[in-house]
Amino acid sequence: MRKIGALLGVSLVSLIIALPASAADNDPKKAAIKARQGEMSIRAFNAGPLFAMAKGDMPYDSALAEKLANNLKVMLSLDNGRAWMKGTSNEEYAEDTKALPKIWEADSKIGDAGKKYKEAVTALADEAGKGLDALKGKAKDLGDACKGCHDDYRKKDKK
Ligand code: HEC
Repeated sequence: MRKIGALLGVSLVSLIIALPASAADNDPKKAAIKARQGEMSIRAFNAGPLFAMAKGDMPYDSALAEKLANNLKVMLSLDNGRAWMKGTSNEEYAEDTKALPKIWEADSKIGDAGKKYKEAVTALADEAGKGLDALKGKAKDLGDACKGCHDDYRKKDKK
């Protein structure tokens, strides 16, 4: 009996320790925040070399440029709207997200920013592999689309 009690004691302690962590992992809103940040990271992973080529920080490589721009285009067909569910702004989750509450306000223009982004990616995917000059203009439009949305809807880093 003593042994069982000791075992139970141990398992209770581990349950108490385990609970807060698993409660956080099971929060669908935190999962949504992680998912959209993951999508943004993949955007940046693909867009980064395109920006670097356009700026001359990296030699132009037409096959790579075409592939990366096409990756961004393929990602447009992902309907990841659930990752932007209500109640997931930095007002509710200050530690986890930089998404500003105005994204979800009635007069939010984030849809327009998303549309600009789609147009920029589509145009870039058509041109990226066709030479450095073709890439340059479209990469600038893409950068403007990323930055435009971040300026309006993402909390600034404190520096
Ligand atoms: C329509 C709006 C919009 C567009 C367009 C957009 N972003 Fe974002 N991005 C956001 C918002 C909002 C966040 C903050 C998300 C959060 O913290 O939950 C973000 C976050 C990020 C992050 C940080 C992710 C993390 O791990 O916290 C990166 C990197 C990023 N974006 C890159 C890009 C790049 C590169 C592009 C263009 C190729 C782009 N974004 C286009 C709105 C946008």
